[in-house]
Amino acid sequence: MKAVVQREYGSADVLHLQEVDRPPMSANSVLVRVRAASVHAGDWHLMRGDPFLLRFIYGGIHRPKITILGSDVAGEVDAVGQAVRQFKPGDPVFADLTECGFGAFAEYVSVPESALVLKPENLTFAEAATVPVSGLSALQGLRDVGQLQAGERVLIKGAAGGVGSFAVQIAKALGAEVTGVCSPHKQEVVRKLGADEVMDYDQAVHQAPRFDLILDTAAYRSVFASLAVLKPGGRYVMVGGAMPYFFQVLLLGSLMSALSGRRVKSLVCQPNSKDLTLLKDWIERGTIYPYVDRTYPLEQVPDAIHALEQRQVCGKVAISIGSAPYSPLCQGHASATASHLARD
Ligand SMILES: NC(=O)c1ccc[n+]([C@@H]2O[C@H](COP(=O)([O-])OP(=O)(O)OC[C@H]3O[C@@H](n4cnc5c(N)ncnc54)[C@H](OP(=O)(O)O)[C@@H]3O)[C@@H](O)[C@H]2O)c1
Repeated sequence: MKAVVQREYGSADVLHLQEVDRPPMSANSVLVRVRAASVHAGDWHLMRGDPFLLRFIYGGIHRPKITILGSDVAGEVDAVGQAVRQFKPGDPVFADLTECGFGAFAEYVSVPESALVLKPENLTFAEAATVPVSGLSALQGLRDVGQLQAGERVLIKGAAGGVGSFAVQIAKALGAEVTGVCSPHKQEVVRKLGADEVMDYDQAVHQAPRFDLILDTAAYRSVFASLAVLKPGGRYVMVGGAMPYFFQVLLLGSLMSALSGRRVKSLVCQPNSKDLTLLKDWIERGTIYPYVDRTYPLEQVPDAIHALEQRQVCGKVAISIGSAPYSPLCQGHASATASHLARD
């Protein structure tokens, strides 16, 4: 099969389209014929082996042990192991592969049955592949770590990013009043995603302390500056951004909470099929939808990662594989996106 393979750490130049063997299957696994994948920030961190800690976590200090990246997958069941009960060949499925070895940048991937969920019926494979990692992170960051309640005011930093574009919609679905923070030229999209108020990163640190919760997917400035716009007793959830700030909160969150009078915590997303099923249900009911900015073919995974690293993307980037429809650089052309925005 064809796959985008990485044998060393570095820039997108280390990624090469190659012929490799199909992945082995076990009794509990499902061989998925990949129709689409998507790219997110974690892909380029793994590609670069940066921060270095990732090399310890994923087991390749000098060279990557994970040679085929890609943590979001949507495709069709090709074959099932003898113990698999829930799926049969031909079923359309999607999954977060973060805790099952990655490998979505390929024509086939072997996935534990427990990680798979039937694809939302109203999404294309490319759209569905943009949901798992970003949607689950947004859901768990707001609902579980952030304990968001209906009627509360939430500030979402990086609202035009992958996680942020889902977070805006999920926070609205949970009954919150949403302020989205993003680059000025992306503000219109964030408004259309449902934000009640939109501002840029400078404005966000000059607000009165009026927010109950901050979901920070773009922590590229002092966390203490963000805490100042939270009400006393408010909650700050670190999702990602610059690594020094991420590790500051991960390691010193309790101390920062004591010093600031706000609760400071980090998200560590836990992929699971129950939450992915909840996202599927919301998508099928039209409560949330993936905002797909553009789609690339498998051989252009390096370009897709480059575009994301360069902050050119609004929402998500999909990778189409095999016969899935390919729409080059079509801004917001995904059907779910177009139909949802057309309702405005
Ligand atoms: N903790 C977890 O379990 C978990 C799970 C998923 C992701 N993450 C992390 O969360 C972060 C967001 O992920 P994502 O998939 O949403 O990423 P993404 O799609 O690349 O979005 C990141 C957003 O940050 C904004 N941003 C603001 N200042 C920036 C700067 N100086 N450099 C780069 N971007 C900047 C971007 O700009 P604009 O305002 O211009 O759009 C972009 O919208 C990443 O660090 C990722 O590794 C963590």
